[in-house]
Amino acid sequence: MLSVNKILEKGDFDKQAILVLLNSTGNERQLLFEKAKETKAKYVGRKVYLRGLIEYSNYCAKNCLYCGIRAGNSRYVRYQMTDEEVLEAAEFAWKNRYASIVIQSGERTGETFAATIENLLHKITAKTGGALHVTLSLGEQSEETYLRWYAAGAHRYLLRIEVSNPLLYQKLHPVDKFHDYQARMEALKCLKRIGFQVGTGVMIGLPFQTMADLADDLLFFREFDIDMAGMGPYIEHEHTPLFQYSRELLPLRDRFDLALKMVAILRIMMKDINIAATTAMQTIDGQGREKALLVGANVIMPNLTPVKYRQDYLLYENKPCIDEEAEECKSCLEARIHMAGDEIAYGEWGDSKHFKNRTTE
Ligand code: 5AD
Ligand code: SF4
Ligand code: FES
Repeated sequence: MLSVNKILEKGDFDKQAILVLLNSTGNERQLLFEKAKETKAKYVGRKVYLRGLIEYSNYCAKNCLYCGIRAGNSRYVRYQMTDEEVLEAAEFAWKNRYASIVIQSGERTGETFAATIENLLHKITAKTGGALHVTLSLGEQSEETYLRWYAAGAHRYLLRIEVSNPLLYQKLHPVDKFHDYQARMEALKCLKRIGFQVGTGVMIGLPFQTMADLADDLLFFREFDIDMAGMGPYIEHEHTPLFQYSRELLPLRDRFDLALKMVAILRIMMKDINIAATTAMQTIDGQGREKALLVGANVIMPNLTPVKYRQDYLLYENKPCIDEEAEECKSCLEARIHMAGDEIAYGEWGDSKHFKNRTTE
């Protein structure tokens, strides 16, 4: 078997090599993390881009078996932020020189929703003179809807594949036409065709998921040539069907460690993409996001959702930043990023360098 040292020297990862890296421990694990840190510094710099996260609505038509805000969970009060609230959050981001926001919500389709978002995009552009970049994370939509949103000014889109193995995907979703792996893949392809900077990602440490699945996830990212990645550990939620498999899960610490390794390996594999240090990482480890920055992540998403809604947007349990106002998350994150030795790129859009490289070649 190849040693971690040799694999890192060679730099060209196949499935076998990725599996060795995912299983590395002790000094070898440290070597992986060092290499990822170096790669980040060399290719994207030690800069962190901020994306203000607006959890726009927890209405969701879907029933993913792992997610707290699935349609079947009646314990949350369903909300949708008003346009004014979104504009206020956008203005906060703009004034604080975040340069970019992400609008995320449960999955909904239909003309009313498409038009509401389109309209909001126009309002945000008008309010900020186009200075604030908007990323959408609103699930699978028709090509027509994606085109409308693109034309209205959103040029980045996040849509996690969740798991790249179609059989595993089926186990984690209801088997019906609304939760179709192929449809999700088509949506990703459609976004790319339209010209969006495309971000995707997976959950790590799910029931039934193997190390080989995780290695395949990384190979899928490379094959699809993604611009941005957001990966985080799976965290169980009591009021979801998947909760019954909790006993079969890796301990939280191991899931966290695997997530760090996934970030590190991906940074080495795809040197110039943007990789998020996700909130789910922080849920397991108080310094989870800083640790992710140290092994290759370069994007952080401070929460801008009005506090009154946050307890109703719990995709998983123990989510942090439930009571902290935008201002508090801002100073908290500034301190954390500095502690990690990185610098916040205020006022920079921080487009994926990979997107630029692949579209100007
Ligand atoms: N644990 C971790 N991440 C989750 N997500 C949904 N449910 C969970 C969970 N229980 C993630 C999914 C989704 C993103 C918005 O949140 O990957 O794409
Ligand atoms: Fe809805 Fe997304 Fe949760 Fe699935 S993961 S239930 S689509 S919010
Ligand atoms: Fe919200 Fe630290 S980022 S409290």
